[in-house]
Parts: sequence; C-alpha cells; structure tokens
Amino acid sequence: MRHRVARTRAAARILAILAVIAGGCSSAASTAAAVSDAAPAPFYANRFDKTPTVAAMTAVGRALFMDPGLSASGKLACASCHDPAHAYGPPGEAALRRGGSDGRQSGLRAVPSLTYSQATPPFTEHYLEDEGDDSIDEGPAGGLTWDGRSQSAHDQARLPLLSPYEMANAREGDVAEKVRHAAYAADFQAAFGDRVFDDPVLTFKGVLLALETFQQSPAEFYPYSSKYDAWLRHQVTLSAPEARGLAVFNDPAKGNCARCHPSAMRDGAFPQFTDFGYVAVGAPRNRSIAANADAHFFDLGLCGPLRTDLTDKAEYCGLFRTPSLRNVALRHVFFHNGVFHRLEEVLHFYAERDTRPQLWYPRAPDGRVRKFDDLPAPYQGNVDQQAPFDRHAADEAAFGEQDIKDLIAFLNTLTDGYAAATGKAAGGTAPGGTASGGTAREACPRRRAEASGIVCRTCASPAYPTMN
Ligand code: HEC
Ligand code: HEC
Repeated sequence: MRHRVARTRAAARILAILAVIAGGCSSAASTAAAVSDAAPAPFYANRFDKTPTVAAMTAVGRALFMDPGLSASGKLACASCHDPAHAYGPPGEAALRRGGSDGRQSGLRAVPSLTYSQATPPFTEHYLEDEGDDSIDEGPAGGLTWDGRSQSAHDQARLPLLSPYEMANAREGDVAEKVRHAAYAADFQAAFGDRVFDDPVLTFKGVLLALETFQQSPAEFYPYSSKYDAWLRHQVTLSAPEARGLAVFNDPAKGNCARCHPSAMRDGAFPQFTDFGYVAVGAPRNRSIAANADAHFFDLGLCGPLRTDLTDKAEYCGLFRTPSLRNVALRHVFFHNGVFHRLEEVLHFYAERDTRPQLWYPRAPDGRVRKFDDLPAPYQGNVDQQAPFDRHAADEAAFGEQDIKDLIAFLNTLTDGYAAATGKAAGGTAPGGTASGGTAREACPRRRAEASGIVCRTCASPAYPTMN
C-alpha cells in the first residue's frame, strides 16, 4: 500500500520566497532551494526595489488571476478556466476549455482544480516512503499538471500566459505592458516598488510571483472547511450514507480508493485525498478532443508528448497524476481527458472497467471489445490491476449500486465551505451535486453508448434520460 505524506509546504515556501527577495544573497537562496527544490534560486533572486508583503502580493495576484485583459483575446482570465465558484476548477461541462488569440483553440487536457495544490511535492521519479521502510521506491510522484512537468506555481503560470492554446501572449513583454495599463497597476507598483515597470522582465516576474502567492492563500485555496474536515475534528457526525460511503472508500476489498486517494490523518496533517503518485487507470479515449481525430495520436501523460524528458520510459506511458478528491463534487469534468462528466459515471467506471468493459470501450469490427482504447497495445500492461481493478469479465463488481450512492454521499462531504453553511447543511447530505442534485448536466457518454449499441446504464437513474 502506498502512503505519501502531504505536508503543508506553502507557508515554508512563501517564507523562503520572501527571504530570498529580501536578502538576495546566496545563503538565503540555498535555504529556498532546500525548502522547496521546486524553486530554482535565480527566479526568486530578483531585486525589486521594495520587498513585497504577502498581503500585497495576494491582493495583486487575485486581481491578475481574475483579469481577462491579460490574454491576447482580452476575454480569457485564469479564472475563466479555474473558476473560484468551482474550487478553481472548470465551470460547466466542456471536457476542454477553449483559448488562444481567437478564443477557439483547445489543448488536450481537462482543467484541474487548484485547491490544495499547495501540498503537491516537487516531481521526483523515485519517491521514497517518509516513514517506516524508506528503502521502498514508490515510483514517480509530484509536480504540477497531469504529467508533473511544472515544478512550481510560478513556473506553471508562465505556461497559460504564453501558450497559444490559452492566453496566447507572444512574449513576456506583452504581459508586462498589459499590467502597466491595468486598473490595478498602481497596486502592483505599490507592492513591488516604483521602478517595477522600468524592466519588463522584472514586471513579468512580479506577475508570476503575485499569482503564485495568491494561489497559496489558505482561506481561498486550502481552507480545510469541508464536512469531512469537521468530522475529523470531531465536530460533526456523518450521516448513515456518508459513513457507509467512507467505509466502502477505505475497504481494500471494495472501493480500495484510499490506496491512491488517502483519506486518513497522518502525522497530524489533514488528508489531501491524493498520494501524488502516477497511475494508469485506463480512461476511455475521449473522441471529442480534436487531436484524437488522428487515430495515431495518444496523450500518454508521463511519457509524453506534452512532457518531453521521459519519452524513453515505456513503463510510464499512460500514467497520470492522481488528483485530489477534495471539492470533487464541484467539478463536472473528470479524468485527464475530461471523458467523464458525472461522479456516477466515474464510479461505475471503477466498478465495471474489468467486469463489464463493453459498457466503457468501443468494439473492433470483429466484435472484440477494445479495452484501454486510449493506449497503444505495447503500453496496456501499465494499467493498474489491483482492487478494485482486480476482476475479470462477468465477475461480480467490487462494489455495487448502493455502494456507489453511498460513495457519492461521502464525496460530497469533501466540499469546502461546510462550516459556513452549518445549520443548513448539518445533519443532512452536504451541499454539492448528488445523484439527485438536479443541476443541468449533459447526458451520459452518448457517443460510446451509441457507438456500441448498448444501453448506457449510468443514465438509468430516473434523474437522467435513459438511452437505448
Ligand atoms: C484555457 C484554460 C486555462 C487557462 C486560461 C488557465 N489554465 Fe491553468 N490549467 C489548464 C489546464 C488544461 C491545466 C492542466 C494542464 C496539463 O495537465 O497539461 C492547467 C493546470 C494549471 C495548474 C497546475 C495545477 C495542478 O495541480 O496540476 C496551475 C497551478 C494553473 N493551471 C494555474 C493557472 C494560472 C495561474 C492561470 C492564469 C495565468 C491559468 N492556469 C490559466 C487550463 C487553463
Ligand atoms: C490505483 C490508484 C487509484 C485508485 C485505487 C482509485 N483512484 Fe481515483 N483516480 C486515480 C487516478 C490516476 C485518476 C486520474 C486518472 C486519469 O486522469 O486518467 C483518478 C481520478 C479520480 C476521479 C476524478 C477526479 C478528477 O478531478 O478528475 C475520481 C472522482 C476518483 N478518482 C475517485 C475514486 C474513487 C471513489 C475510488 C475508489 C472506488 C478511486 N478513485 C480509486 C487513481 C486511483
């Protein structure tokens, strides 16, 4: 069983950032490197003529994050894809968000939530267990994005600002120029000093630093204010379905979810619901992604093509970073390729991937089910085969319909803001999209259902149209 400890690294990271900006000397820089090897010292070793405070950078960072004026189209802010109302994940149902200078380009991947990403350790290929027998190599872990190719939030912010698929600025100087003319330019200057606009390189670094600091503000990004957190603090009890769901989640013979999405406190730290590890779960191919029109194109995660340093590692092909399940009920787009839109679908996939693969994968012309159709045959052996994925066609699933309802009730307890809503939410099911949540959502995997001529069983609940 894999355990990875999520330590609250953000506070240490911000202190290190400030130490370097203030001091700029090599000893401070090496402290920063030791605390957070995600952050190459030169980035922080900048000479702003004023030492910015966390409060000032957070305020400016929030303004930058919400500003569509930073994009080439003038219409796309970080918040357009990472919506604060959806735990900084995608609003709506679209598998991919569109961007680019014409607002019509789309990339390859679903937008992840940015809550709790402060706990993500830097990428390593050889994660060693912190406690107990640390000779066990747990394999690759950590890093930002679905393939871990970004090492820090400032590193990551550079990508969307300059990506032709996203905010589409041609160069850093274009971003600097936009900030100089933004409504919050005076605040930016007050934070980083009067001369910050003299040098576009310095302006751009201020932008990345402010965005990074904003994304580490506890109240907005890691409040630990879900019903489950209140339960861990012994402040509330879980309802019967929530408690049953938690039991299925943890039971190695049923959901076995905690194997990769740890749910228990460890060393006094609240669980992140991810061990930051990389796994191939064999997600079905999403045929709505433009790049997938080419039958020879595959997004293989850790081994490329977006990530380019591990392309020779066949054993990494198909592996993606396990996402946190905190606030998962606020998202309607799941898995790296956004192939699923409802938690019911995800859970039925976990239960039926091996027992009823014909519900999830298309058939070849000879009638054979093309299991793991988003992975070329040589890499299909990388797909995880332990519980709940240890079954065979026509076996009984590791967990059933009632378990799925209970799991959803439990996953709804991971939505932040419970304390604020206590009174209303206490005693009942936590807020969020339960099976009967009633929010307007798209119907089921229509394409797959139609293509294979089967009844889509995840649509069988009365709340959704049944297909046949
Ligand atoms: C067009 C939509 C879009 C916009 C705009 C956008 N992002 Fe993202 N963001 C994504 C997608 C998609 C990913 C996943 C990329 C991948 O895995 O390759 C992502 C990943 C991230 C991550 C990594 C999270 C994690 O835990 O892995 C961070 C941090 C992030 N974005 C911050 C930002 C910031 C800051 C901005 C604004 C400067 C921004 N994003 C603008 C779509 C967007
Ligand atoms: C072997 C490790 C592993 C196990 C066991 C596991 N998961 Fe996951 N989970 C993952 C990975 C990896 C992904 C992302 C897969 C991808 O993008 O291709 C994921 C994605 C998800 C998502 C979608 C989240 C998002 O933001 O896209 C949900 C929900 C989820 N898992 C719930 C569960 C539940 C509930 C269980 C138990 C029934 C479970 N998982 C068991 C590794 C695991």
